[in-house]
Amino acid sequence: MKTLTSALLAGAVALSLAGQAPAQTVRIGLINTYSGPMASNGDQIEKAVNLFMKSGQCKLPAGVKLEIIKRDDTGINPETAKRLAQELIVRDRVQMLAGVVWTPNALAIAPLATEAKVPFVIFNAGTAMITTLSPYIARTSFTLWQSSYPLGAWAAKRFKTAYVAVSDFGPGHDAQEAFTRAFTEGGGKVIGTVRMPPPTSDFAPFLQRVKDAKPEALFVFVPAGKSATAFMKGFGDLGLGQAGIKLIGPGDIVTDEELPNMGDVPIGVITMFHYSAAGDRPANKAFVAAYQKEYGPNAWPNFISVGAWDGMQAICDVVAAQNGKIDPDKTMLLLRGWKNPNSPRGPIEIDPRTRDIIQNEYIRETRKVGGILKNVELETIPMVKDPWKEYNVK
Ligand code: PHB
Repeated sequence: MKTLTSALLAGAVALSLAGQAPAQTVRIGLINTYSGPMASNGDQIEKAVNLFMKSGQCKLPAGVKLEIIKRDDTGINPETAKRLAQELIVRDRVQMLAGVVWTPNALAIAPLATEAKVPFVIFNAGTAMITTLSPYIARTSFTLWQSSYPLGAWAAKRFKTAYVAVSDFGPGHDAQEAFTRAFTEGGGKVIGTVRMPPPTSDFAPFLQRVKDAKPEALFVFVPAGKSATAFMKGFGDLGLGQAGIKLIGPGDIVTDEELPNMGDVPIGVITMFHYSAAGDRPANKAFVAAYQKEYGPNAWPNFISVGAWDGMQAICDVVAAQNGKIDPDKTMLLLRGWKNPNSPRGPIEIDPRTRDIIQNEYIRETRKVGGILKNVELETIPMVKDPWKEYNVK
């Protein structure tokens, strides 16, 4: 390592002796899901990162460059994610880590961020406690508590009974706990719960149980992307809507890019979420237009691409502020309190205390507008902090 450092220093000296400004290339390790059955989620990150870098919004001082080194974790795969992070840190000498769709992968990387002091900007993984695992983590996406807790309060004013069905891993557990807490506090009764394996595409056995229990509402979390579409198909096939059961959940279940593949089943579904491609903020209209110009008129960005888009902005800003010379602690200081009043999702800010994002939540209804399904924002709950941390981190 010593020899490596001296070789690098010698190189830098040689460059400056030659009278050139030494080019400062900052290496970012991006761990994402590029293959496997869940790759459509990774594609959202990939498209957003590439579009952002092409957009000219990454304004760096002269001579400073970003090099993004991309690695494929292939899905929910903590061992692979950990190995990739290790290689990126040790072999590729990245100065920051970014990405990660899946909570189990983020959990596996967290100790390495701490050990190596490599700031890690999470673009998606949404289980609340992840950010408590390392002081070098900041998150530009969301937590499931942020949507499911206010949705529980909203639902308690409208329904007496609910059934809760969630994917059996971190974000599902969080969604269940958050919804149940607020719904029960508001006087509602959860009459049944079921946890479903995350990679499943056959939801019929679970949905039959729900139908038999006759709840007024069914609260669901399944991962965005193909799982959400498979779930929606099951919900339609078993006729739960016709049986009078109202489907509600965080926005993952009506993920924008999959709406065209869901038929008419999602019409009337109520979700709480921080991002809808249908949001009519000017910044969002510009974002969606740029996305469709690049990827085609039928390509829809979802919350995952917005998490990556804003995450890239945060990374560029902290790199620029340090003139390309990344100090891990300075980087975290800059990320704490980083804000963007004009994200496609509305104003956002990294909570300096928790390093988690503060953002609007919107109540949305899925409606057919001009022949296509959209998640129409109806009401705004401004600047929601992660409720889990308000309860658990003093
Ligand atoms: C997660 O693993 O934290 C996760 C994955 C997919 C989602 C939401 C959360 O839609």
